[in-house]
Amino acid sequence: MKILNVVGARPQFVKLGPILKAIEEHNQSGVHCRIQEILVHTGQHYDKELSKIFFDELSLKEPDYNLGVGSGAQGFQTGEMLKRTEGVLLNEKPDWVVVYGDTNSTLAGALAAGKLQIRVAHVEAGLRSFNRTMPEEVNRVLTDHISNLLFCPTQAAITNLANEGIVHGVHHVGDVMYDSVLHYANLAEKHALILKKLALDPRRYALATVHRAENTDDSTRLENILGALDEISARGLNVVFPLHPRTRRKMKEFGLLLNHAKAIEPVSYLEMLLLEKNAKIILTDSGGVQKEAFFFQVPCVTLRDETEWLETVESGWNQLAGTDPKRIGRATQNAQSGDDQTDCYGDGRAASKIVDVLIRSNWK
Ligand code: UD1
Ligand code: UDP
Repeated sequence: MKILNVVGARPQFVKLGPILKAIEEHNQSGVHCRIQEILVHTGQHYDKELSKIFFDELSLKEPDYNLGVGSGAQGFQTGEMLKRTEGVLLNEKPDWVVVYGDTNSTLAGALAAGKLQIRVAHVEAGLRSFNRTMPEEVNRVLTDHISNLLFCPTQAAITNLANEGIVHGVHHVGDVMYDSVLHYANLAEKHALILKKLALDPRRYALATVHRAENTDDSTRLENILGALDEISARGLNVVFPLHPRTRRKMKEFGLLLNHAKAIEPVSYLEMLLLEKNAKIILTDSGGVQKEAFFFQVPCVTLRDETEWLETVESGWNQLAGTDPKRIGRATQNAQSGDDQTDCYGDGRAASKIVDVLIRSNWK
């Protein structure tokens, strides 16, 4: 059986890790159905800090194809990926194309396969923000509607799909990012020196990330968020802020500066895990970081008006604060521990369940 994985952006490298490991374990188990795996990197993320560093740290294989698409407007970027992925698919003729999450690389991979009648499996299917102004929401909805297998991390995702009439090929497997955190958290402890490097004491700092287009590309929203981070820092809680290049570019374009919060380059995955685990609080608009805060049981303030990860809010660990500085400040002050429950994102074996289903479904 031949599986072709399509990835392109930072969080997808993290999601790919457990799947490659599960494929390797399957192949080493001596069963007769061997999986041949082909890896396609669209090139959506290309800076070392957003791409190569993840391949090195997570020991991911070199991509078989790097499409080198790079940055661009939504339609241009997605269109280039679609065109270039199609060429690879015609060459490789895989049994399955596996796509991850909700980026333009996800949609392009799914669409290229769907149009060639190659079966599509979507990892992290069924998530919804119900905000169609987000490019990610468009990518999620369209990808789910052309997928043959839909691997859902949560029960809420299954319900979302059912509400859109998608009931076939749906599997509740848990979250591959949880698999990854369970695997790498201890390693992070041993190898990442980031706390020392930044002179941070555990539970004495806040960790912040911001990169969503809705926040970075609107000068008022971005200014509000940066103001809130500065205010938290000025009141005595260090704020460490690994800057996504999109955010850095927009700050420059809008002439926005930080006076107190500490902006640093994007950090590696192991460094990020260590920073998350030891933070007093996390402020973010990232989907993955919201979940990782929950996995580490660190209170989170989400700098958005809605989230796809409802369980993190319902359990009390995560508060939605949008971008109003007063609301962000209040949420940060009021943050506290939530329920002591983590099993809503699975048992850490999502990836091997996904690989099992792919093999079983190949014969149908
Ligand atoms: C993308 C995804 C988003 C995901 C995020 C993960 C879409 C629509 N968005 O957002 O869902 O949460 O990745 O981080 O797919 N840039 C660099 N170097 C790079 C990559 C990007 O400088 O290696 C800069 C460029 O100025 C680029 C901008 O960042 O225009 C945005 O990059 P892009 O990949 O389009 O979107 P992200 O904001 O990274
Ligand atoms: N991440 C990282 N370094 C950083 C910021 C994030 O390693 O400087 C990791 C983070 O731990 C998580 C993933 O990148 O595993 C989340 O990616 P991102 O926030 O870019 O995208 P999203 O999850 O919102 O799609």
